[in-house]
Amino acid sequence: MLGTELELRLLNYRDTTPLKAGQVDDDPYGGGAGMVLRVDVAAAALDAAYDGSPEHRVVALTPQGRQLDQQLVEELADEKELTLLSTRFEGFDERIVEHLATDAVSIGPYVLSGGELPAMVLLDAIARRLPGALGSEESGLEESFSAELEGGLEYPHYTRPAEFRGWSVPDVLLSGDHGRIAEWRREQSRARTKH
Ligand SMILES: C[S@@+](CC[C@H](N)C(=O)[O-])C[C@H]1O[C@@H](n2cnc3c(N)ncnc32)[C@H](O)[C@@H]1O
Repeated sequence: MLGTELELRLLNYRDTTPLKAGQVDDDPYGGGAGMVLRVDVAAAALDAAYDGSPEHRVVALTPQGRQLDQQLVEELADEKELTLLSTRFEGFDERIVEHLATDAVSIGPYVLSGGELPAMVLLDAIARRLPGALGSEESGLEESFSAELEGGLEYPHYTRPAEFRGWSVPDVLLSGDHGRIAEWRREQSRARTKH
């Protein structure tokens, strides 16, 4: 439980597998290298956790899924409950993605060894969108990809010292003129987004 907003539960396929000796995966039909997570094992884990099929979205993390972006993060952050499924080795039996999951999500066009990091990436991106997640040191509103910045990149930030090795902070930020500062930031955000 983080604050009162987020309750996390970790499920291990091995704890509920119907197979002997904690087996969770098997050889691929048709041959080839690698082990595939079994559909009966994933179903047993979901049944045990939710007493049947979950009524909320179940996200399978796979490089073949919809690529994660801020829009998808916002969409998933609106859900009351979510289940994330991940694997190692060769991946999921396709029936898990087709029938047990509601969504397939990729964190980017590259392949990692397992779904632990993708699950944590998605979790972190969602958690910081929940009410009360961010302290006053960080703004969750005006940041890269937010609606406030028209989906674009955030403007640059500077802090003290105002000058270091001849590298100075743009004058406008020291001017105290909030209208000009806001305009400058909007321009910077737009210019960065174009590149
Ligand atoms: C080695 S990968 C399997 C790759 C799969 N054989 C393929 O070629 O698409 C093992 C697991 O890591 C996770 N994974 C790896 N890269 C990922 C990515 N970019 N996004 C989401 N999950 C990923 C998934 O759970 C995946 O099933």
